[in-house]
Amino acid sequence: MIYLDNSATTYPKPPRVIRAVNSAMREYGFNPGRGGYRDSLKTSQKVYEARKTVKEFFRAPSEDSVIFTPGCTHALNTVIKGVLKQGDHVIISSLEHNAVARPLHKLSEQGKITYSVSKIVPDDDEKTLQNFREAINRRTRMIICTHASNVFGYRLPVERICALAHSYEILFCLDAAQSAGVLPIDIENDQYDFVCCAGHKYLYGPMGIGLLLIGNNNPVESLIDGGTGSESFELSMPSFYPDRLEAGTLNIPGIIGLQEGIRFVQRQGIREIYERESRLIRFLEERLKDHRRIKLYRNHDKAHRDVPVLSFTVDSADSESVAGYLSKEHGIAVRGGLHCAPMAHDHLGTLSSGTVRISPSVFTTRTDMNLLLNSLRKFS
Ligand code: ALA
Repeated sequence: MIYLDNSATTYPKPPRVIRAVNSAMREYGFNPGRGGYRDSLKTSQKVYEARKTVKEFFRAPSEDSVIFTPGCTHALNTVIKGVLKQGDHVIISSLEHNAVARPLHKLSEQGKITYSVSKIVPDDDEKTLQNFREAINRRTRMIICTHASNVFGYRLPVERICALAHSYEILFCLDAAQSAGVLPIDIENDQYDFVCCAGHKYLYGPMGIGLLLIGNNNPVESLIDGGTGSESFELSMPSFYPDRLEAGTLNIPGIIGLQEGIRFVQRQGIREIYERESRLIRFLEERLKDHRRIKLYRNHDKAHRDVPVLSFTVDSADSESVAGYLSKEHGIAVRGGLHCAPMAHDHLGTLSSGTVRISPSVFTTRTDMNLLLNSLRKFS
């Protein structure tokens, strides 16, 4: 199989990650924070080291501000449902994933909040900023914004949007599902209030593990309540992080695998990963851009340095049929359709057809790209 669907999840995982998950099952198969015996303490120490790796990677305020979640969707839901109060207003970008749009829609259907969608102008950050500014009203409590579109790769000026939010005393939540591991994220410098990440995408961890990083010690109500191994005599959840937001037994193989995935990214270098994958996308783009039947959806302003993802359509063909053809006839795995981000497709006018999305990882080669190009030439 030629795997070009790394935006859905990276595959394969680095051998070190696989080994780490395997050894987690054998060496750290004990419940951390739940016992005073040696192996439970050893597992707690290992979890602490993983928090430290995450903290340093994202320059989060402390190890305690690193919350392990079952995924990015869970982290986003925790922020949305744990921070917003009756009557609050939220602003999101027009490129958001359903992990943001659906929980907000539900709260708004229940009459709890209202939200506005601010249009992203891919090649004009000033206009994008202006659109966010115009959407702010006196009830606006939070701006939630993806770092980069999972469909089109467009990179948003999130540092500036966050600064804008703060100038109005509005919280800022970054959806880094698509960017963590490909773009640098510096919480200390950029003062994000919340950063939500998927562990299984470009951090090369296993599925079932994600991160919620809390900047500025913002208060968040727990989404799930239960045992934490701390303050067990209290019926309320502990007031301190990470315990407050980590009820139930932690996903130790996931956490240890994620730590090793982050180390892998550190060894490769984010900049090197970004450059290498971007070269592959440019290679593809150059060869497809004059194709009579193919329409590419790219930001023409190269200064924007979008994340390495390429979306396209072939004539008026349904994108899922094109993806089906690539899989059946050529063993190439890509994702067609709406990528759980109908809002982004609506924005770019591809809601009816969807797009075919190509997303490389560090393991993708130019040969993979050439095989894709040959297969597309044969598509009729
Ligand atoms: N959100 C993932 C994607 O973009 C699954 O495909």
